[in-house]
Amino acid sequence: MLNMHLVKSWLRYAATAKGRHGLHSPFMYRLADKVIYDKTPYPEYGLVEDQRRKLLRDQRLLTLTDLGAGSQYGNRKQRRVSALASNALKSPRLAQLIYRLVRDTRPGTILELGTCLGITTLYLAKAQADARVITIEGCPQTAAVAREVFRSAKAGQIESLTGNFDEVLPDLLKTLPSLEVLFVDGNHRRDATLNYFEWCLPILHEDSLIIFDDIHWSKGMEEAWERIKAHPAVSVTADLFHIGLVFLRGGQAKEHFTLRF
Ligand SMILES: C[S@@+](CC[C@H](N)C(=O)[O-])C[C@H]1O[C@@H](n2cnc3c(N)ncnc32)[C@H](O)[C@@H]1O
Repeated sequence: MLNMHLVKSWLRYAATAKGRHGLHSPFMYRLADKVIYDKTPYPEYGLVEDQRRKLLRDQRLLTLTDLGAGSQYGNRKQRRVSALASNALKSPRLAQLIYRLVRDTRPGTILELGTCLGITTLYLAKAQADARVITIEGCPQTAAVAREVFRSAKAGQIESLTGNFDEVLPDLLKTLPSLEVLFVDGNHRRDATLNYFEWCLPILHEDSLIIFDDIHWSKGMEEAWERIKAHPAVSVTADLFHIGLVFLRGGQAKEHFTLRF
């Protein structure tokens, strides 16, 4: 079913989005020029996309535990791995953008909320081979397939946790001294999104990158995005329509960008 909210948001976005040449901020210009619009075919892309191709051929039936909001594909409980792989994962173009952003951040610790079958998790891990990568997924059967993917891709640094973000995250955060990348890609509800941001904030710092998926998905997600943009700890934000980037850089005037992607 067509999400009319998303269509209207897209039209608004398309009317205001700028390319790199409309940017006057040196920070954002460098990010756009060297990272967002970087066309280099990194060899890691092929490694991860091989795993996606295997998932697209996998006919096993999974019984899904659905804890989130924002699925465009209905709430059917039984799905084939192949169907999940074709509907629920980030496209190569978007996942590769996330790879480049994370690579540029040089993170020590990366946290992903929403593993699904593990394709973006692999991109996060391949972006910084020596980073600690923690990913959380609420559906046990989906998480089990993701773990097979991590083994097959020899991504031994990924720590895969199973459970509801609301239950797993508070205890996990007590054990982490700092967080350089936070990728929120599940449970697209206004209050949940704001909670995850607030909970992680004490260990995020001025070199951290925070990526929110589906910032225009619903009225609630747009409200969450506006609140995050206005948050006193936030300096720079960028709207790339499907994802929003957040930076907490000190000494930087508060500024928001809408970037064509
Ligand atoms: C959009 S998918 C993630 C896609 C994945 N990052 C990719 O593109 O490769 C979102 C995932 O978050 C999980 N999820 C949603 N709400 C959750 C919650 N409250 N706790 C744990 N997992 C949740 C869903 O089961 C789903 O697999």
